[in-house]
Amino acid sequence: MTEYKRWTLAKHPSGVPSEDCFALESFTPDAPQDGQVLIRTHYFSLDPGMRGRLSGDSYAAGLKIGDTIESAGIGEIIASKSERFAVGDMVMGGLGWTQALTHPDRGLQKLDPALFDDKVAMTATIGVLGVPGLTAWFGLQDLGQPQAGETLLISSAAGPVGATCGQIGKTLGLSVIGIAGGADKCAYLTDLGFDAVIDYKAEDNLVNAIEAAAPDGVDIYFDNVGGEMLDAAILNMKPKGRIVVSGQVAEYNREKPVGIRQTTRFITHRLRMEGLVVYDYAKQFPKAQAAIAALIRDGKLAYKEDISDGIEHAPRAYATLFVGANFGRRLIKAT
Ligand SMILES: NC(=O)c1ccc[n+]([C@@H]2O[C@H](COP(=O)([O-])OP(=O)(O)OC[C@H]3O[C@@H](n4cnc5c(N)ncnc54)[C@H](OP(=O)(O)O)[C@@H]3O)[C@@H](O)[C@H]2O)c1
Repeated sequence: MTEYKRWTLAKHPSGVPSEDCFALESFTPDAPQDGQVLIRTHYFSLDPGMRGRLSGDSYAAGLKIGDTIESAGIGEIIASKSERFAVGDMVMGGLGWTQALTHPDRGLQKLDPALFDDKVAMTATIGVLGVPGLTAWFGLQDLGQPQAGETLLISSAAGPVGATCGQIGKTLGLSVIGIAGGADKCAYLTDLGFDAVIDYKAEDNLVNAIEAAAPDGVDIYFDNVGGEMLDAAILNMKPKGRIVVSGQVAEYNREKPVGIRQTTRFITHRLRMEGLVVYDYAKQFPKAQAAIAALIRDGKLAYKEDISDGIEHAPRAYATLFVGANFGRRLIKAT
C-alpha cells in the first residue's frame, strides 16, 4: 500500500493555533473491509468555525490529541469493498486534513462529474454549495426573515459565507452593506453588487461608519465576527431588527470573549438575535443546493476560491484565516 500524509492534533491550542499544535504524519491507510472504501483526497477545506473543536469548545465533539483534523473534502475512490461506490467514483464528505483515508460507505455523497463545469466547479460542493453557502442561505432566509426593501449588514462580507449571503440578499431585493478588511476585498464586494462597503481596518469609528452607510438603520445584521463589531452593529439596528449569529471569528481565539455590551438596545429597539447550526437544515440541503447552483448558472451569484497546493501548507493557511489572509473559500489541494 502507498504511504500518504495527514495532519493530526498535537496539542490543544490557546489563541491562534500555532504550527506546533499540528503534526504531519506519514501513514499507510488500512485496506478497506466490507462496507468500506479507500479515498484519495483531492481537496479539503479550512474552516474558521472548526477552531472550537481544536480546543473542545464547540457544539460538535472536540478533537483528541492524535485525531486527524476534521474538515470537508472531495476525493476519489481508489479501492472499494462497497456496493455503493466503485473505483473512480468522486465523493464529498468529512474527509479531514489527509491525503487518503479508509471510510465507511455511509456519510459520503457521490458526485456526478457531468454536473460540474467552468461555472460550477466540483470544489463548489465544499464551498458555495456546501457548508458556507448553505449557512448564508438558511441563516439569512430562515432567521433573517428578509423583506424586499430592507437593509442587510454583513460582517466578514468577503468570506464565502458573507459574500454568498450578500448576493442572495440582492436577489431578495435587499439593500446590502458589507464590512470587510482592506480595499481589495471591498472592491470585490462592490463588483458583486453590494450597495455599500465598509473597510473596517480603515475606520476609526465603526459605529459612525455603519451609520453613514445605513442612515435609516439596519434591519438584518448577519454576524460572522462578533465582538466589538457586533456592538457597533447593534447600535445601528432599526426597531424590530434581526441579528443572525452565523459565526464569531473575532472571538474564537480569545481566552475571554469580549461579548455583547449593548444589550439595552434589545429592549429599547425590540431586537431579536438567534444563532444557527447549518446541519439542523440537512434535510433541506438538496433543494437549497439546486437553488444556489441555479443562481450561479444565471450569473446572479459568483464565488471565489483561494486554493493552496500541498497538504504541508494547511496549518499556516488555517491560522492566517484569523488575520484575513484568505480571499474566498480557503481550500488545500491535498498533493
Ligand atoms: N453557524 C454555522 O453553522 C456556520 C457554518 C459555517 C461557517 N460559520 C461561520 O461563518 C463565518 C464565516 O465563515 P467563512 O467560512 O465564510 O470564513 P471567512 O469569512 O472567510 O473567515 C475568515 C475571515 O474572517 C475575517 N476575520 C478574521 N478575524 C477577524 C477579526 N478579528 N475581526 C473581523 N474580521 C475577522 C477575515 O476577513 P477580513 O479580511 O474581512 O477581516 C477573514 O478573511 C465564521 O465565523 C464561521 O465560523 C457558521
